[in-house]
Parts: sequence; C-alpha cells; structure tokens
Amino acid sequence: MRLSQYPLFTSKDTPADAEIVSHQLMLRAGMIRRLASGLYTWMPLGLRVLSKVENIVREEMDRAGCHELLMPAIQPAELWQATGRWETMGSEMLKLRDRHERDFCFGPTHEEVITTLFKGDYRSYKQLPVTLYQIQTKFRDEIRPRFGVMRAREFLMKDAYSFHMDQASLEDTYQVMRAAYQHIFDRLGVEYRIVEADSGNIGGNRSEEFHVLAETGEDELMVAEGGSYAANVEVAGDLKEGDPSPDGQGTIRKIRGIEVGHIFQLGDKYSKSLDVSVLNAEGQSITPTMGCYGIGVSRIVGAVIEQCFDEAGMHWPDALAPFRLVLCPMNYERSEKVRETADRLYAELREKSADIALDDRPLRPGAMFADAELVGIPHRVVIGERGLEKGQIEYKHRGADAAVDIDINAASIIDAMDNAGR
Ligand SMILES: Nc1ncnc2c1ncn2[C@@H]1O[C@H](COP(=O)(O)OP(=O)(O)OP(=O)(O)O)[C@@H](O)[C@H]1O
Ligand SMILES: [Mg+2]
Repeated sequence: MRLSQYPLFTSKDTPADAEIVSHQLMLRAGMIRRLASGLYTWMPLGLRVLSKVENIVREEMDRAGCHELLMPAIQPAELWQATGRWETMGSEMLKLRDRHERDFCFGPTHEEVITTLFKGDYRSYKQLPVTLYQIQTKFRDEIRPRFGVMRAREFLMKDAYSFHMDQASLEDTYQVMRAAYQHIFDRLGVEYRIVEADSGNIGGNRSEEFHVLAETGEDELMVAEGGSYAANVEVAGDLKEGDPSPDGQGTIRKIRGIEVGHIFQLGDKYSKSLDVSVLNAEGQSITPTMGCYGIGVSRIVGAVIEQCFDEAGMHWPDALAPFRLVLCPMNYERSEKVRETADRLYAELREKSADIALDDRPLRPGAMFADAELVGIPHRVVIGERGLEKGQIEYKHRGADAAVDIDINAASIIDAMDNAGR
C-alpha cells in the first residue's frame, strides 16, 4: 500500500471521551470512527486488523471440525417467546416491528435460530454430533456502552452451537472447542486465563470464560497463585484475596480480565422448549443436548492493544498487524536514488506479501516514524541517501531500542524480520 493514497487519519491528540488506552489509540490511529453511542465504523486500517482476528478464529473453528453458516441478524419474536426469553432478555434486546406489525429483534445471540434450523434439517443420530458456527454482527443495547469496541452495542461475534445425542458426546466436543480456543488465543499472542464461570439459570452444566489479562479489564478474577484454580467473582463467591485455594493448591489472588470468549454446556433448554427431537439407534425419539461457544471478535482487537502498547502507540504482533512492514524513504520526492530503491524494494516485497506499506508521503522523518509507531507496524526499513552510498538501509523492529544496517535487498529485509521473532 502506498500511504500517499491510503485513507490514513492519524492524530496526536488524545480524544477526551476515551478512558482507556486501546480506545484512545484506536481513535488516534484512525482504526475506528464513532457514529453514535456504541456504534463504530471500522476504517480500512482497523478492518485489516479485525479481518486478521476473524480469519484466525475461522481457521481454528474449521480445524476443529465446525461448519460455518450465516444466519439472519433479524429474528422473529415467536422463537424468543417459545423459549421465554422475549421477556427475560429485558431492555438489552433491541425490538423492532415490521410494516405488518410483526415483532422482531436484532439478534443479541442465536440459540433460538440455530435450534429452529437444526429442527428442520436434522433427524437422526447418524447426523450427530455437529457443530455449526457463524461470524456475525450482534446487537445488544448495553446500558453503558464504553471503551470503544470493547463494550459496543453493535459488535462482531463468532458464535458456535453443537448438538449431541448424550452428555458424553457434548463433553467431548466441549473439550475440542476448549482446545481450539486455546489455539486461537495462543496464535493471537496474548496473555490469557481460563476461568470457571457461572452457568446462570440454565442449571448444573459446565461453563468457562477466556479472559485477556489487563488492568483495565471490567471483570474480576480469583486465581490461585501456585495452583490451577481460577474462577470469575460470581463463581468464587465469598473467596477473598489471600485465602487458600478451594482445591488446597496455592493462594488466591485477585486479577482483572477482559472476557473475550465463553464456552458453555447448555443441556436441553433450547432443544426442549423448541420441541426438537432426533431418532436414536433404537428408533426412539430423544431430545438432543447442546453446547454454545462465543468469541468477541471485535472486542479482541481492543483487548490485544491493552497488552501491546507503549508511549508511542500500539505494537502489533505480526499475525495481527495492519501492515507488517513499512518502508520509509527519506526525501522520496526529491531523491531519485532513494525513490528508485524504495519502489524496487516495495515491488519485490509485494510479490511475497500484501502487508507492506510504502510511506511515500512528503513528510519529515519524525512525523513519518511517529505514524508508524502509533499504528504499531512491527517492522520498519528506512531508506536514505547516506545509507545507500554505503550500500545499506536501516532496519528496526518496533520493540527494539536501535536500528541495524542491512544490505539493500528484499531477502535481507525478510531475514531481519524473521530474526526479530514473533
Ligand atoms: N457489548 C459487547 N461488545 C463487544 N463484545 C461483546 C459484547 N458483549 C459480549 N461480547 C463478546 O461476545 C462474547 C460472547 O458473548 P456472551 O453472551 O458470553 O457475552 P457476555 O457474557 O454478556 O459479555 P459481558 O459479560 O462482557 O457483557 C463475550 O465473551 C464477549 O467477548
Ligand atoms: Mg459471557
């Protein structure tokens, strides 16, 4: 991407209404723009990151044997009345009425829709177990939208739902999904913790949350230092910091997290209330049991920033960076030698990766570097006349203290990027 032609809107000023660093930096870098409370446009720069998160999630869901589909965002009221949630969801659910005076909602989640879909197409134990998922826009009329995309009203979620003949099969899939989530958060390169969560009013079944650890996290977690116990505060109940862990291993410490994923053994609440049955091997009708598995795709973008930033801006891991590398030519306009070298390197590197930016804007070096650091591009190459005379260009990793001289060719740049790790 030639930055002279790219819609990049960076700013030095910290927006007054942004409380936490990820929100501030996303606005300053021009990744998002606010339309109204809890409603954001993903600008081209931000969308590049969001799409990378989305693709990692998609790859790991597919690898775990799940099948992607896409359900409508708007859902008829009857389904929610059947499960009793038309009333219990309260004002978080955005209700709509069409021209025929029929009631709908903008889906805050999709258990009712997926269960109805399943009912139409699945008949036999031979078709189970199955896990279906989508990556789709949800709407929840949050009482207090804040922190930008972290607690928005409209947001992108990956929601998966599994169907089973018995509890043992549900337990198997639950473990497969749990492992897939671990792969996802390992690939995202964030520090996270899995905690026991409250299974709410659904009864006795298992539920765990995945939290990115951050001081600014809205959730309090009780975790055992020197042990494996970890629970959110609802489950931990009266447990206090300094108490011994309930399993006797370690001492309880309170930490903060951002909930980015939630996996759940649902049981038969939805299949029962929506009257679903499948035939078992003996030809008897049974009610299938279900699991559900959510990931806050758009929230992850903010959560990662909360762990990866410094005074200058964001610091993306390679896997999520909007651009992996920026080429910074000094005096691109006036120096033919610099321009030719920059154009050649850019063309060669573009053959190998689409994630390359060429900063061909007529900017002073300081302003150019400040943008690269704010946006958090992990690798930077500076091309200047003096270096070219010595046969060198300058490579610097976003996290390194100093730049190093390397040879003027694409292979040296790629080597330098690989050696920087990540
Ligand atoms: N308002 C929101 N903005 C962005 N992401 C959200 C929002 N609400 C939920 N998510 C994400 O969707 C995932 C699955 O939804 P789930 O129903 O478990 O959310 P939740 O428990 O209501 O979240 P929270 O407790 O943070 O409100 C959550 O783990 C979270 O990452
Ligand atoms: Mg949750």
